[in-house]
Amino acid sequence: MVEEIFISPKKRGRIAVFLSGRGSNFKAIHDAILGGKINADIALVFSNVEGAPGLRIAQERSLETFYLNPKLYPNREDYDREVIKEVRKRNVDLVCLAGYMKILTFHFCREFKHRVMNIHPALLPSFPGLHVQKKAIDWGVRYSGATVHFVSEDVDMGPIILQAVVPVLQDDTEETLSDRILKEEHKIYPEAVRLFFEGRLEVRGRRVFIKEI
Ligand code: GRF
Repeated sequence: MVEEIFISPKKRGRIAVFLSGRGSNFKAIHDAILGGKINADIALVFSNVEGAPGLRIAQERSLETFYLNPKLYPNREDYDREVIKEVRKRNVDLVCLAGYMKILTFHFCREFKHRVMNIHPALLPSFPGLHVQKKAIDWGVRYSGATVHFVSEDVDMGPIILQAVVPVLQDDTEETLSDRILKEEHKIYPEAVRLFFEGRLEVRGRRVFIKEI
């Protein structure tokens, strides 16, 4: 089944970034916008963590930020319902998860189908989940990398948009491999967002096709 993502390349798009930590991928996307590479603006930087360094960076860059305390909600569904309202209010076209350490509910994924992207520091479908750079070293793989994918209800398993490969070196530590992968993340995430707003991504089943212009 071909699932077109309806986005008008003429209109300037609106992005919500969700983060829980340092926000280097958020910065990379914002820098690409400031450099004129992406036809969109960041309408909201949202976090489930009050003191997330990424939120501070967003404030320094005069972007709208919003924090919602998960402890105030009886369950994940109610929390996500509130988050959906905030995203809807701002007419967002694309949600970019950038180190957002909370699993989205079925409800959220359905509401924004093919309109939520995530970046993962491994070559999916290998090594989903957490601490994946260490897992890649311990497993003995020769190559790892980064994956940008659409978010579906199965964590880290949505259709793959872009990947970048890096070697795993014999003397790598979790830190050195993470740094090497992160440099690639900062290239492919803005690139995937750019393709999205150029209206060039088409989802067919599990596969994402990149349309030529
Ligand atoms: C990145 O490694 C990303 O792949 C993962 O979480 C980390 C976020 O880093 N999903 P940052 O907050 O963007 O610096």
